[in-house]
Amino acid sequence: MPSGMRIGEPVAGTTAVDVLDQLGLPAGATILVNGVGGGVGLAVARLAAARGLLVTGTGSTAKREPAEAIGVRFIDYTAEDVGELNPVGYDGIVDLVGGSSLRTVAPLARDPRNVIAVGDMSVPDLGGRFVERRLDRENLERSALLALDGVLAPVITAVHPLSDAPAALATVENGHTPGKVVIKVS
Ligand SMILES: NC(=O)c1ccc[n+]([C@@H]2O[C@H](COP(=O)([O-])OP(=O)(O)OC[C@H]3O[C@@H](n4cnc5c(N)ncnc54)[C@H](OP(=O)(O)O)[C@@H]3O)[C@@H](O)[C@H]2O)c1
Repeated sequence: MPSGMRIGEPVAGTTAVDVLDQLGLPAGATILVNGVGGGVGLAVARLAAARGLLVTGTGSTAKREPAEAIGVRFIDYTAEDVGELNPVGYDGIVDLVGGSSLRTVAPLARDPRNVIAVGDMSVPDLGGRFVERRLDRENLERSALLALDGVLAPVITAVHPLSDAPAALATVENGHTPGKVVIKVS
């Protein structure tokens, strides 16, 4: 891996590469990123935009600014009905939330096979697919180069000292963290 790869990027970055490779959509296709404000969501949105996809993303109100800053058409799910907004549907859906939220957005895909879930393994029940991870050297290096090029630059919203690790993990576990939370070891 090139030195200088930024903290926090390997998991989100390689997941974004895998999910978009699996979808294999051409430039100009539309994609909905459900949970766009989190670590994986922002990485998927950035990489999708770099591939020429038209990106819509869902999140709560605080996620609007970081999402719109990278060109995402943002839907605030606390204020709008996500299921009602696009009658023609999306060419692909990447779900990072799961549960009832996945069930709300899945019918918006033109082809149910193009619903890819990253966390909810029940997605085949809806006709979709669970992300296939490729944790090999080549994929890690591709993600590292994308990070160095700035395509996958992570949004770091908090840096905690190691002594504060429990609080940092609690923040992430509440499921509404914007971007990445860093625990500094030294
Ligand atoms: N399979 C794999 O290899 C792999 C790899 C990486 C991650 N994952 C999994 O993928 C999931 C996402 O990871 P992550 O790191 O991106 O998590 P994260 O940083 O916690 O992001 C999840 C985002 O979803 C948003 N969200 C929650 N409820 C929502 C709803 N109803 N509609 C729209 N957005 C909603 C959250 O905040 P707001 O509600 O405030 O917008 C948050 O920004 C996790 O379950 C993780 O375990 C799996």
